[in-house]
Parts: sequence; C-alpha cells; structure tokens
Amino acid sequence: MKTTAPKPRHFASDNYAGICPEAFAALTEANRDHEVSYGDDTWTAKASELIRGVFETDCEVFFVFNGTSANSLSLASLCQSYHSILCHEIAHVEVSECGAPEFFANGMKVLLLPGDNGKVDPAAVERAVRKRSDLHYPKPRGLSLTQATEVGTVYTPDELRRLGASARELGLRVHMDGARFANAVVSLGVAPKEITWQAGVDVLSFGGTKNGIGLGEAVVFFNKELAREFDYRCKQGGQLASKMRFLSAPWVGMLQDDAWLRHARHANAMAARLQRAIDGLPGIKIAFAVETNAVFASMPDELVQGMYQRGWKFYTNVGVEYARLMCSWDTTEEDVDAFARDLKGLAKA
Ligand SMILES: Cc1ncc(COP(=O)(O)O)c(C=O)c1O
Repeated sequence: MKTTAPKPRHFASDNYAGICPEAFAALTEANRDHEVSYGDDTWTAKASELIRGVFETDCEVFFVFNGTSANSLSLASLCQSYHSILCHEIAHVEVSECGAPEFFANGMKVLLLPGDNGKVDPAAVERAVRKRSDLHYPKPRGLSLTQATEVGTVYTPDELRRLGASARELGLRVHMDGARFANAVVSLGVAPKEITWQAGVDVLSFGGTKNGIGLGEAVVFFNKELAREFDYRCKQGGQLASKMRFLSAPWVGMLQDDAWLRHARHANAMAARLQRAIDGLPGIKIAFAVETNAVFASMPDELVQGMYQRGWKFYTNVGVEYARLMCSWDTTEEDVDAFARDLKGLAKA
C-alpha cells in the first residue's frame, strides 16, 4: 500500500507538539532589552514565585533544560554514591534515561519494583528496604514515583499519602517524576499540594515540556534542606542556563492564568475521546484505565503497520508492548476522529 503524507499532528508523543501560545507570548515578551543572566533575572523570580503559589508553600525552585536532568540531579541530591533509590520497573529514570541518575549520583543504584498499572506496589517498597540491612547492600535512600505514571494512570492522594508515610518510616526520601504532573492534577481534581508535599514528596520534577513549553522543567524542593548547593549541581551538570529568562519566562505564561491546567485538561479530554472511539474495535483492547492523556491499546501488528502506512506515527515500545497514543495540548477533536476513522476502516478490512 502507498504511504500517505504525514499528518500535521500525531499520537506518538506529547513532545511532538509545538509551543503553546501562552508560553510563546511570554518568550516573546522576555526577548526584550537586557536582563541579568544565570537566573538572577525578573522572569526567573516571577516564575519561581508563581510555582510557590501553585503549591501554596515556600519551596526552592530551579529551572533545567529537560526531564532527564531534572530527575537525575534531584535524585542525586537525595543520595550518596553508596545509596540506592527505588522506582517502578518501567519508570523513565530506569528505562529511558541512559543511566543518567546513576551517573549524576556517582554510582547510586536504581532498584526496581513491580506494581500493577504502572504504580509502585507499597509492599514491594517495604520488602526492598527490609530484606537487607548489611553494608554489602546498596542502602535504600530514595523512592521515585511517577505522576502521572508511564502508562497514563494516576496515584490517588490516598495512595501517595500511604507511600509517603511508609517511605518516612523506612528512612526514604521521596522524589516525584512529574513530567505529566499537570495531567495528573486535572485528572484528580486536587490542589497540587495534596499530591506533593502534603503526601510526603520532598522534591518534584515539574514537567513543562509535555504541557506546552518549548523546553525546560522545574525542579521544586519542598524539603529545602535537600536543595543545598543544588545550584552547583546544575552548573556542573551543564544545566545552568546563562540566559535563564528563556527557560523561566514560558512558565510565567503557563502559570499566570492557569493555561497549564487548561492545556492538560484538554489533552486528557482528547485521550478520553480517543478511547471512546476505538475501544471495542475488532482486535483492539484498551490496556490501562485512561486517566490522563495517554491511551495504551493492544493492537495487532497488521493494524499498526496499516496505520503507519496511512501516515500516523505512534510508538509500540515505550515501557510496555502496547500501542501508546499520546494526546497533547494541540490535539484536536478532528485529529482524534480521523485517527479513529482510519483505525476502524483497517480493523474491519
Ligand atoms: C515519565 C517521564 N519522565 C521524564 C521525561 C523527560 O524526559 P526528557 O529528558 O526527554 O525531557 C519523560 C519524557 O518522555 C517522561 O515520559
């Protein structure tokens, strides 16, 4: 079959999308005159203040270029080289960061935990910590949770509180990979504080890119003690932007009138629409509850190949062996309907 022209928007990744208007407008506005460099500028101060407002608490905020650095540098701040951190076996820090957490933490070991629906099993946390206390074992010091999870599900506030309390008892500090934190917040309809510091999270990698920013994530330390000398860690890790205002200004655009929540709500709604449209088609089975902006579906290879030939792009190898269909801030209802129509046509053929 002849391959058709690529589509203007795809379901491969929420970082296929461009920059949303609010972030772009702030960038344009920041691109005026001169500003102090290395983060001592007014945009960075304002963005940090807005983030403190979002979480309704005092916290230390740093802007870095991407999620891998946000995760690995914050994990490094929890650990010594002889420590380990625990995470789900398909966590991004384990499967998609090329060993950066271990590298930036000078050899810290990542220990893997099982759990249904992309969520860490609390009993497995306890088992991993209690099974050994001798000095030959890499001493567990951190727990990294992904919210929303790699398979688009969300930890409820209750689940997080329980994990947070257990982590405290076990002497673990808690990191949250919030690459899709906004999608989780709107899915749960909670205040951001309820699923972070109030649940025991010490440090959050707060995702901006998948939410509509061009590039950049914020590292938010609720446990300010852990932020000590983090600026040095950023600099050494190549994550201190000299023209920091261009990393921080888009956050101002996103946060000042809640564009971050609007965009996440929209992306989630598109995923829900996609699920409704394709669930039950011959050969298609939705693999996980659609709680945020991802739809995971088992799909026979002929269907996958047929959709690729029609110009659609999506992955089938991200952590789990299902087709992963991601929606973003700019996914339209027409995109969803066109994808579903093509899939329906092929599924019936
Ligand atoms: C769960 C999760 N964490 C972190 C990231 C950020 O990764 P990157 O370093 O590509 O910005 C991603 C991106 O795919 C992700 O899905």
